[in-house]
Amino acid sequence: MMDQTPEYQSCIQGSEKVSWRLDELLPKDTVLDFSRRFLSDELTGAEAIPFLSAEERLMLNHIRSNSYAHLFLFLEEYAVALAAQRAGLELHGNATHMRALLRFTEEELKHQQLFARFTSAFARGFKIVPALLDNHVEVARAIMAKSNLSVLIFNLHLELMTQQHYLEMVRNNKTEVLDPLFCNMLKHHWLEEAQHTRLDFLEAQKILAREPGALDAALTEYAELLQALRATLTAQLALDLQSLERAVGRTFSPEEHKYLSESQERSYVWGFIGMGMKAPLFLSRLRALSPRAERRIMELAPTYYCHVDAAA
Ligand SMILES: [Fe+2]
Ligand SMILES: [Fe+2]
Repeated sequence: MMDQTPEYQSCIQGSEKVSWRLDELLPKDTVLDFSRRFLSDELTGAEAIPFLSAEERLMLNHIRSNSYAHLFLFLEEYAVALAAQRAGLELHGNATHMRALLRFTEEELKHQQLFARFTSAFARGFKIVPALLDNHVEVARAIMAKSNLSVLIFNLHLELMTQQHYLEMVRNNKTEVLDPLFCNMLKHHWLEEAQHTRLDFLEAQKILAREPGALDAALTEYAELLQALRATLTAQLALDLQSLERAVGRTFSPEEHKYLSESQERSYVWGFIGMGMKAPLFLSRLRALSPRAERRIMELAPTYYCHVDAAA
C-alpha cells in the first residue's frame, strides 16, 4: 500500500488553515433573529404547506432548522467515538495519522458544543421550547456496534451531505433571504468537515488494504445504518409537529396532520439520506475505494430518491 502519511499531514495543514474559535463564531449570549428563514426552503419544505399562514410556515422553518442543528449534535456523538477509536489505534504507531485523527475528534466535540449553543439560543428566543431527541448516546453505541468500515462510509455520506446543504443554501440565498448567522454556522461547520471527509476515505483505504474482503459486509451495514437514521429522523419529526402545534396555538385536523407528516418525512429523508447518497463526491470516493461500492449505492439509492423529481 502506498504511503498515506503525506495525505494525513495535508489534512492537518488544511485543518489548521480553516480552524475557527467557538466563542468567535457563536458567542454564548447570541440573540437569534427570528425574522428570517434559517434553512433554505429546499431543506425544510415548509413553504409548500398550503394550510399554514406565512407566519406559521416561518415557524415551521425555524423548528426544522433547530432540529437540524440538534441532529448534528446528536449524530456527532458517534463521530467523536469513531474518530477517537481510529486515533487510539495509532497510539505508538504513526504519530502524523494519530494527530490528524485527534484533531478530527476535537473538532467534532467543538461542533457538538456549537450546535448545543445554537439550540440554547433558540430556546431562549423562540415562542416555545421545542422538543428534541435525547437518546444520542444509545444511538451512538448502536452505530459503533457496526464495523468501523461501515461507519466510516456512513460518516463520509453525512459529511459530504453537509457540503451539499451548504451549497444549496448559497444557491437559494440568491432568491430567498436567509439568516446570515445560520448560513455562517453551516459554512464553518463544512470547512472543518472537508478535512474529515478526507480522513474517512484514508481510514477506509487503510482497513481495505488489510482486509480486502470486508467491503461487501460493510456496505450491507451501511444500508442498515441508513434505516436506523431514517427511524431517528421520523422520531424527531414527530416531536417537530408537536412543537409546531404548540407554537401556532392550535391542533391540526387529522388530514392536516397526515399531510404534514408525509410531506415533512419526504423532506427529512431527501435532505439527510437522498442528498448524501447523490452527492457527486460521495459517489466518486466510493468508486475510488471500489467500483463495486459505487454500484451498490446506486442500487440502494432509488429507495430514498422520492423527493428528487419534485426538487429538480
Ligand atoms: Fe462535525
Ligand atoms: Fe465530521
